[in-house]
Amino acid sequence: MAQRQRLIVGNWKMHKTTSEAQAFVKQLAGLLPKSPSAGVTIILAPPFTALSAVADAIKSLPIELSAQDAHWEDLGAFTGEVSVPMLKNAGCRYVIVGHSERRRYFGETDATVNKKVGAALRHGLRPILCVGETWEQRSNGETKQVLSSQLTDALSGIEKDRADDIVVAYEPVWAIGSGRPATAEEALDAHRHIRATAATLWGQEAGGRLPILYGGSVTPDNIGEFLAIREVDGALIGGACLDPAQFAKILAVAHTNS
Ligand code: 13P
Repeated sequence: MAQRQRLIVGNWKMHKTTSEAQAFVKQLAGLLPKSPSAGVTIILAPPFTALSAVADAIKSLPIELSAQDAHWEDLGAFTGEVSVPMLKNAGCRYVIVGHSERRRYFGETDATVNKKVGAALRHGLRPILCVGETWEQRSNGETKQVLSSQLTDALSGIEKDRADDIVVAYEPVWAIGSGRPATAEEALDAHRHIRATAATLWGQEAGGRLPILYGGSVTPDNIGEFLAIREVDGALIGGACLDPAQFAKILAVAHTNS
């Protein structure tokens, strides 16, 4: 089987002004692997305000741009929202949807996530669809059920020929920002279950093509362990992506592992 593409995504969340973002890219550029592997895709997800500046700064670098969220309508009276066509025009190729922080603090539901996935695909952006269970759900033995229903609802009405255009990120809520990442076994179990759910929706072949990333307390020290798992196609990184040196270390491990 051909080697899968690895995606390393840095989600800055609500960090970095435009000038801080420009300084970050400048520093990162000097730290990128000298002969980058074509098997690794590097993606940065800055806040909306820094998207255009980062798009400019990465023009000659092997880095892609993602937004952290989008509205599902193309335009209209939605004060404070940003649409997919706006993101595309700002240089984005990806957009994160359904992050647990959006679900938890901003009322995101599986139904709105589904509309956002549809909007991204309609305009040629790849959605990075986040799913994951809370600690309470895991303790109650509900992890698989939660993952199946989040995925099934988010992908409702999406045809199987879009499998290559979608990225799923498994982010256990309890692992985010906690310094307590999932174990390799927990990640493997969840990734297998997500793939099995995708196969139920779309059939084995299309389900098998869906890239699935791991996210939650990923660091330069543990990234190698996650990327060593065949079912893990990359990582969605929060805290450890904010410092160019740390992020570059993660990228270096990804490049040696691909
Ligand atoms: P941390 O890497 O800080 O745990 O955040 C993970 C995350 O939420 C990325 O989207």
